Amino acid sequence: MSAEGDAPRFTMLGGVNQVGPDGLAQCYAYPEAHAVDPRSCWVRGNMIASIDGGATSGGKSGDLGGVGDHALFAVLRGLADVIVVGASTARVENYSGVRLSATQRQERQHRGQAEVPPIAVLTRSGCLEADATLFHRTEVPPLILTSADAVSDTRARLGALADVLDASGSCTDSVDLRVALDLLAEKGLLRVLTEGGPGVLGMFTEQNLLDEMCLTVAPALVGGNSVRIVTGPAEVHTEMQLSHVLTDDEGCLYLRYGRRNPARCGEAL
Ligand SMILES: NC(=O)c1ccc[n+]([C@@H]2O[C@H](COP(=O)([O-])OP(=O)(O)OC[C@H]3O[C@@H](n4cnc5c(N)ncnc54)[C@H](OP(=O)(O)O)[C@@H]3O)[C@@H](O)[C@H]2O)c1
Repeated sequence: MSAEGDAPRFTMLGGVNQVGPDGLAQCYAYPEAHAVDPRSCWVRGNMIASIDGGATSGGKSGDLGGVGDHALFAVLRGLADVIVVGASTARVENYSGVRLSATQRQERQHRGQAEVPPIAVLTRSGCLEADATLFHRTEVPPLILTSADAVSDTRARLGALADVLDASGSCTDSVDLRVALDLLAEKGLLRVLTEGGPGVLGMFTEQNLLDEMCLTVAPALVGGNSVRIVTGPAEVHTEMQLSHVLTDDEGCLYLRYGRRNPARCGEAL
């Protein structure tokens, strides 16, 4: 092959196509039912990072995102069967239930989904306050996926407010993500959206359970000690494949990557 043939090819991304709200939902549609193993979940991560890779500004992710990111955040929630989040993020970001527009509800009905997806919180300890907005500012009760060691106490405190499930595997003091995903699949919650945080995404990444990753790059530098969007003790190398890049008037980039070698669900994006 010629030297030119071997050379990497670069493409200048140009703003040729405008993507409206309907188009946004189409850009992020989960794989067709036939592409998803009906017994297992399709797991999508959605995170925001600054240009220098910070996952937070002032301790939260909220200040990084502008109107475009908020719009995408809402679209992704509208497409999911369940939103999985770490207990720390639920506490820090003061999570409450998912709010959807009338149009999103109609579209969900059309796709055979429940009107509103629940939030599922991963927690070893089960330490969530009973008066948290997670339990009270919501149309549907959240799921609490906790450890065998914590499940009885958590169910006693929160069982009237949430569906508390033992998602432990062989280690009784933590949640096994595969067990957690199987529990969600049993409930028909196959289109999973995880909003992190970095610790939880680290678990998904380490176990090769992320089918795709959506990343907003915010046009900001944060410096300091802001964590990355994925943290954890184990380093892995999972090849991902770019599906699309969008941008908006604020200069955010919206990247969608699928796993290059689909390991569980049989088909790439
Ligand atoms: N940039 C972004 O897009 C983005 C998104 C989300 C969050 N954030 C930021 O990230 C920070 C929080 O992230 P984080 O990494 O500290 O926490 P996290 O991933 O949200 O949650 C960690 C918590 O998950 C639970 N957990 C972890 N491993 C577990 C296991 N094996 N089994 C059961 N439960 C387990 C534990 O809860 P218990 O302590 O209850 O046992 C742990 O404290 C916040 O500052 C938030 O603002 C940024």
